[in-house]
Amino acid sequence: MTQHNEYPGYVLWMTGLSGAGKTTIALLLEQELKARGCNFERLDGDVVRESLTRDLGFSKEDRDKNIERVSFVAKLLSRNGVGCVCSFISPYQAVRDMVRANTTNFIEVFIDAPLNVVIDRDVKGMYKKAIAGEIPNFTGISDPFEAPAQPEIHIHTDRETPAESAQRILTYLEKQNFIPVGESILQPA
Ligand SMILES: Nc1ncnc2c1ncn2[C@@H]1O[C@H](COP(=O)(O)OP(=O)(O)OP(=O)(O)O)[C@@H](O)[C@H]1O
Ligand SMILES: [Mg+2]
Repeated sequence: MTQHNEYPGYVLWMTGLSGAGKTTIALLLEQELKARGCNFERLDGDVVRESLTRDLGFSKEDRDKNIERVSFVAKLLSRNGVGCVCSFISPYQAVRDMVRANTTNFIEVFIDAPLNVVIDRDVKGMYKKAIAGEIPNFTGISDPFEAPAQPEIHIHTDRETPAESAQRILTYLEKQNFIPVGESILQPA
């Protein structure tokens, strides 16, 4: 398959509450970017926390360290022409700004859904536990989430399907000339 080495690296940074839709959209983007022969890598909070940062917890200090290590990886990849699709709650603006400052072509994507919607979804059953006080430092319940001040892309997952959300991001990447323009294989759900 043709590899598009003429395109620059970038860091597509998806931030948002647990259950907002970061991983769902990242997986759709992965499908589409693979089909277009793009150079890319997906970095996801749950995966990274089982490997690169498995020693870390959810205190502010540990959350910051988690993102700092991911930032280092994204820096190396993005400067070498790899598009990084990153899905992390990353609740603190200052740390997201640090990633922006240290990586190539950083794009902040706010994956937004109201708290009551993500509580209703409760994809992992964790909100129920957090509300019952069984999980400390849970973002949105017992820990802060700082909404992005000026995200490049703002996605409202309570108002559109995952395929529509992914398509909006692909269109942005196309317009920036970060990926080739293509016929999307994503099926409108
Ligand atoms: N437009 C949309 N985009 C993404 N997900 C959506 C959308 N509409 C509904 N959903 C649903 O919302 C849920 C999102 O769960 P997902 O695991 O992707 O969240 P997450 O942000 O990765 O959470 P976590 O931080 O806990 O990993 C899924 O059940 C998905 O089907
Ligand atoms: Mg996820």
